[in-house]
Amino acid sequence: MKNVLVIGSGAREHAIAKAFGASHHELCIAVAPGNAGIAQEFATHELGSVAEIVGYCEENRPDMVFIGPENFLAEGLADELNRLGIPCIGPSQKAARIESSKIFAKELMQKYGIPTASFFFTYDENQAIEYIEKQGTFPLVIKADGLAGGKGVHIVQDKLQGIQAVKLLMSQTSKGVVIEQYLQGWEVSLFAFSDGEDFCSTVFSQDHKQLYDGDQGPNTGGMGAYAPVPEADFWRQDVEEQIIDPVLKAMREEGCPFVGVLYCGLMITSDGPKVVEFNCRLGDPEAQVVLPLLETDFYDLCQAIVNKQVAQLKLSWKPETCVAVVMASRGYPGSFQKGYPIYIDPSLEADICFAGVASKDGELVTSGGRVLSVLSLAESKEQARDKVYKELTKIHFQDRYFRKDIGLRDNEI
Ligand code: AMP
Ligand code: GLY
Repeated sequence: MKNVLVIGSGAREHAIAKAFGASHHELCIAVAPGNAGIAQEFATHELGSVAEIVGYCEENRPDMVFIGPENFLAEGLADELNRLGIPCIGPSQKAARIESSKIFAKELMQKYGIPTASFFFTYDENQAIEYIEKQGTFPLVIKADGLAGGKGVHIVQDKLQGIQAVKLLMSQTSKGVVIEQYLQGWEVSLFAFSDGEDFCSTVFSQDHKQLYDGDQGPNTGGMGAYAPVPEADFWRQDVEEQIIDPVLKAMREEGCPFVGVLYCGLMITSDGPKVVEFNCRLGDPEAQVVLPLLETDFYDLCQAIVNKQVAQLKLSWKPETCVAVVMASRGYPGSFQKGYPIYIDPSLEADICFAGVASKDGELVTSGGRVLSVLSLAESKEQARDKVYKELTKIHFQDRYFRKDIGLRDNEI
């Protein structure tokens, strides 16, 4: 029996635990801290900080730790576990800068010729404003340097909006801002499992980041996703040769080889794929649709990463499509009420990955903005969509909100 510990508390971590659960190895799976929904299926441990996780791992020596969220990686959890000789999936703190610092990522791409939007960065508010005042072409994209959960990005239509966004971002963070060219195209995500040297890419997936149908409204952490995205496969070789391979080489040359899951957020433009962002972990909700399609044993895949045997790995996939819809609390990503009971009809067939839920008097109640993801697999995207939207009617809580158009986007430039 091998002990596996998944770090994190969202739907992505629930999906990761389920992926381990589908392994043919005998695994004892725990999630830390997890949430009340995950606790219905897996053991959970109340570990909230890097120090607590490291202390627990030192004492219990799990056979594999999978680090879900970026914040622990940016705080150096993988370095600590590596120091203890505990196998873990997730990059070092230095390598996690590919996500934790947009400036690091943009400079790396510029230095190594990896296609991305042209950019300007500064730590100085006046310089940022001066730069915006000189621009003649809008929209422009303005981003905070540090981690912002997908919510630190402003797409501005004119100078006034640009200056307001700079002032807002500078007042929220002591870090710098990146101002970049707006990329026209369609967005898709690709994960690469890397042992530092070699990599294996997954099926493409597509997140729906905006709050409302038709990709309107504010950006969120993600309102739903589907995989695979067949039209993206045309670009796979370009993405691997022009983006993934060079960035992994670049990370080695910079002295911080990337071990773990590299998330490539891509824009397919009329000039081909360009990087919108790199993340240092699986995406949420993309993990909820990619992992259920994986036929390769997930524990074997993790072993290949930690044993530096990814070159010998070939991933196989179910010939199906998975669609996941996020059920959120109305008001998210702004303020919302919590504590509403969640009713799930026993006839529910779809799989659920729980996120913002808690337990009150033995009942599941809402406790976060993104409450849960519901997902269905079927032979085609249309069938998977039909299934998941039928199943959604079996889940109720007050103020529930979800997008009705997950998987309907036209992927056209
Ligand atoms: P990021 O946090 O960098 O992924 O940005 C969040 C979202 O903003 C992306 O998923 C895109 O939808 C959008 N975005 C970011 N950068 C650009 C860009 N340069 N051009 C167009 N859209 C962008
Ligand atoms: N789905 C976007 C992210 O995980 O960053």
